[in-house]
Amino acid sequence: GAASDLFARVVAWQRRCGRHDLPWQRTRDPYRVWLSEIMLQQTQVRTVRGYYERFLQRFPDVQALAAAELDEVLALWSGLGYYSRARHLHACARWVVQRYGGRFPADADALAALPGIGPSTAAAIAAFCFGQRRSILDGNVRRVLTRLWAWDDTTAAGRRRLWQAAQDAIAPTASAEDMAAYTQGLMDLGATVCTRSRPRCGACPLADRCAAHGAGQPEAWPRPRPA
Ligand code: ADE
Repeated sequence: GAASDLFARVVAWQRRCGRHDLPWQRTRDPYRVWLSEIMLQQTQVRTVRGYYERFLQRFPDVQALAAAELDEVLALWSGLGYYSRARHLHACARWVVQRYGGRFPADADALAALPGIGPSTAAAIAAFCFGQRRSILDGNVRRVLTRLWAWDDTTAAGRRRLWQAAQDAIAPTASAEDMAAYTQGLMDLGATVCTRSRPRCGACPLADRCAAHGAGQPEAWPRPRPA
């Protein structure tokens, strides 16, 4: 059907045209994927790279991070901004060590209950590390999907509908490898093709079925949230 076609197209596009050289793509270690996703929440890839490598050198695993003083974590975070991320990161590390024996839970709902991990970050970790069939919906993916369907997601009902449709788009037979490619592919589409201004619709694998592109005004979505 249409939904699984979307899934297959994004997977195929990611394998041909997506990004494959990011440091956190070389691992399925939940600690590393979690760290990268928290850093990437509000910071660009090119800035995160250096911080990510330095952080891992000093704190190679969740036990090392949990054992550190908060002040040292904040010092290593210095320059990345949004310092509540670093506080939550440290609290989350201690939580995982104390309550989960140092192993991140393999399920998006359990991950989303940890400090600093929202539903989209939880889904990203679950998909990348455990192959769980859960949809991300960060700012980039919100832009891709609201344009694809020309949906208004500025109401609570609209937001719920978008989450449900994003979840329904995942092929029931998707393998762990498919889930990693699909998740990265949605992110890459939003970051490199379906950009906020001047999207490159000529390079998009979904353009022929994109409602916003069909309407001739892709930049009209996502709708601005009411102030
Ligand atoms: N932004 C959020 N998560 C990302 C990832 N895994 N790769 C690139 N950009 C991202």
